[in-house]
Amino acid sequence: MKTPTDALTAATGTHWTSEEAWVGTRRPILEAHALPAAVYADPAFYAEEQERVFSTSWVCVGTHDELDAPGSAIVRSVAGRSVILTRNQNGDLRGYFNACRHRGTELLEDDCTLGLTIRCPYHRWTYDRDGALVATPQFADAGVDRFDTTNYGLHTVRVASWQCLLFVCLSDETSPIEHWFGDLDQRLAGYRLAGWRSHLTRDFEFAANWKLVSENFQEYYHLRWVHPELAKVSRVQDHYRYQGTGMYCGQTTTPLSNDERGDWDALPPAEGLSQPDMASGRFIALFPNVLLSILPNHVFVMRLDPVAPDLTREHCTWLLPPSNPQVADEDFAVTRNFWLDVNAEDIDIVQRGQKGLSTGSYTPGRLSPRFEEPLHRFHNMLADRFVGISRIPAGDETDDQPLYGTGINPLPWRSVEDQARKVN
Ligand code: FES
Ligand SMILES: [Fe+2]
Repeated sequence: MKTPTDALTAATGTHWTSEEAWVGTRRPILEAHALPAAVYADPAFYAEEQERVFSTSWVCVGTHDELDAPGSAIVRSVAGRSVILTRNQNGDLRGYFNACRHRGTELLEDDCTLGLTIRCPYHRWTYDRDGALVATPQFADAGVDRFDTTNYGLHTVRVASWQCLLFVCLSDETSPIEHWFGDLDQRLAGYRLAGWRSHLTRDFEFAANWKLVSENFQEYYHLRWVHPELAKVSRVQDHYRYQGTGMYCGQTTTPLSNDERGDWDALPPAEGLSQPDMASGRFIALFPNVLLSILPNHVFVMRLDPVAPDLTREHCTWLLPPSNPQVADEDFAVTRNFWLDVNAEDIDIVQRGQKGLSTGSYTPGRLSPRFEEPLHRFHNMLADRFVGISRIPAGDETDDQPLYGTGINPLPWRSVEDQARKVN
């Protein structure tokens, strides 16, 4: 499918489709600048971003187990278009635009459990879960020429279940999802996340641009001052790049530390993890809209849903491994409350970021090569979507190379003794 963006780019081009608009981003990290305020606060940029980024990317719309129950369907808005995700009778994932093929009525208002079919509320045209038109009450009886129901099935959208998440892509021109996320599937293979299940969900809404939340997640520069508790289990000096080819910005904390509250080790780890996975936290911002924190015993997903330039919905889900599927709430409370505290601290600081960027006075500052290199990568991915470059960025050559003063990434695993000897 050609998206409206394709037509827009060809026809007009705007300030943001030119490389000059991104000159501070395109510089090497040692000289790069942060993004201008308009990128976070201007409604015109936001509208263009919906087209150039959200309608051309693999956008996360949920966790895979939201479609576990037979006949379940979820309704999501992607780049302002309503889409339906469901599974057919064989369990295969399916995605459709949420519009009837008769006169365009929205088919489903909200998440629901379907029977065998999707039925339009207006004149009851009915589709099976493969999108085929199977009933048109009283339509053909009165006579209609050359009407072939096979021409009026639901319009499909690309959907994918990847790791423990569901994705939609509105453009047919975008690479397949395996290519989009590059080597990340392989990096995460040892966790076998497709078998993990949601334990708890929470939604938040806050007054900041979605990119501020992603950027904040990607950098650990703010850790000491914004999150004194998090800094005990995820120490600044234990952060490293975890970055291969793919549309993501990754870091690892290795080794994870313990604190007196046991924030991250209150639950048993998943069975069968490798030693490096067992000792690490993986923090990965998938482009564009999902932030994954993968710990040995739980996964915390933050899915970002832009609502306006200065308004974002954040859908949070905690998942547990199949070896520990049922956890009493009192046993989960430490982990849950830890994340809720960290999230509240982050929401507070990104809302203040939005306020500062909206003063009209901000001119782009400099990025810290050591702490903010992932933001530089993220900004360049954003620039690529705007100027129409469909490249999947390369990653680091190896995981164990010194980068920007952070020392040698301790992967591949050496030994516990080496870790203890590591100079802090
Ligand atoms: S608009 Fe759906 S049946 Fe008429
Ligand atoms: Fe934070």
